[in-house]
Amino acid sequence: MRIGKTSYRSVWRDPDGAIRIFDQTRLPWQVEILRLADAAQVAEAIRTMRVRGAPLIGAVAAFGLALALRADSSDAGMEATAAMLAATRPTAINLGWALEQLLDALRNQPREERVAVADRLAQAIADDDVETNFRIGRNTLPLIREHAGKGRVNILTHCNAGWLATVDYGTALSGIFQAHDAGIDVHVWVDETRPRNQGALLTAFELAGHGVAHTIIVDNAGGHLMQHGKVDFCIVGTDRVTRNGDVANKIGTYLKALAARDNGVPFHVACPHSTIDWRLARGEEIPIEERAEAEVSGITGLAPDGAPASIRVAAPTSPAANPAFDVTPARLVSSIITERGVSAASEAGLVALYPERSAA
Ligand code: MRU
Repeated sequence: MRIGKTSYRSVWRDPDGAIRIFDQTRLPWQVEILRLADAAQVAEAIRTMRVRGAPLIGAVAAFGLALALRADSSDAGMEATAAMLAATRPTAINLGWALEQLLDALRNQPREERVAVADRLAQAIADDDVETNFRIGRNTLPLIREHAGKGRVNILTHCNAGWLATVDYGTALSGIFQAHDAGIDVHVWVDETRPRNQGALLTAFELAGHGVAHTIIVDNAGGHLMQHGKVDFCIVGTDRVTRNGDVANKIGTYLKALAARDNGVPFHVACPHSTIDWRLARGEEIPIEERAEAEVSGITGLAPDGAPASIRVAAPTSPAANPAFDVTPARLVSSIITERGVSAASEAGLVALYPERSAA
């Protein structure tokens, strides 16, 4: 994706293996590139959401493990680093998936081979994410075209599933960027996505950067807009899809799916292969991250002096709860769009796209 005149991915490496990322806690006010020079810095960046988004944290963790092996390629060192990185965030399966890809390949390698193997594999995971997301966009285009005959296509999205949440293109936004590039008149309703406002800050930044028409709305506005015929369909990303098609995504996604069902609005989920957890049967089994109260009781924005600042927005002594994700049951999901095609949100639908995962 481009910022100004320059093309970027959301993560890339220096020749010495150090990792470069955009500090997403600074966007959209400051475009700041961070250099992560060891696994502890990588873990901190994921934990504090300097990098975030399911596919991106998977790729960054893979690069982080490869980086750590340069300092310590022993079995114990490798396993400890992988465990530390895996523990940074619990809900997105991509993190564990990417680390497992590396560990499976590395455990039987002699120590002197491990850095080269890990480097290659981490890069392959990142490259695959780019290709996968491009294809998800291609597979989303026909759904957008279906609505284009009636004029402007109004799409609602929640959280951020654009290029910043992946290595490039995004998942839910990939098709929207491609539709815009193909000359289709698309307009996106962007849920602000409290508490961290990934929609208002990051999705809006990406759409503005690409020239896509969009409007930021408070999280509670979606149902009203759907009742008034102002949403043609919803599309969101996901942090984990279970075998039966249940979808974990940013908190508030479930409420949008309920409103969509009540109003006959299609609710689509864009999902790369790396986000399907074939080991879990149902959404109830997905661990839901609980984050700090301060994210709810406070908010970060731009102060009048032009510098980013945080203020408290809640009553001074009241406690707050902060579940970061929810699970939308498969019955509320119109389709799951992957790099292989579009499927029903069900085990049969997913297995039809990935026959190698058939239990039989
Ligand atoms: O907590 P975050 O910001 O990492 O959550 C991100 C989301 O919920 C995204 O919508 C999801 O990871 C899909 S990313 C393509």
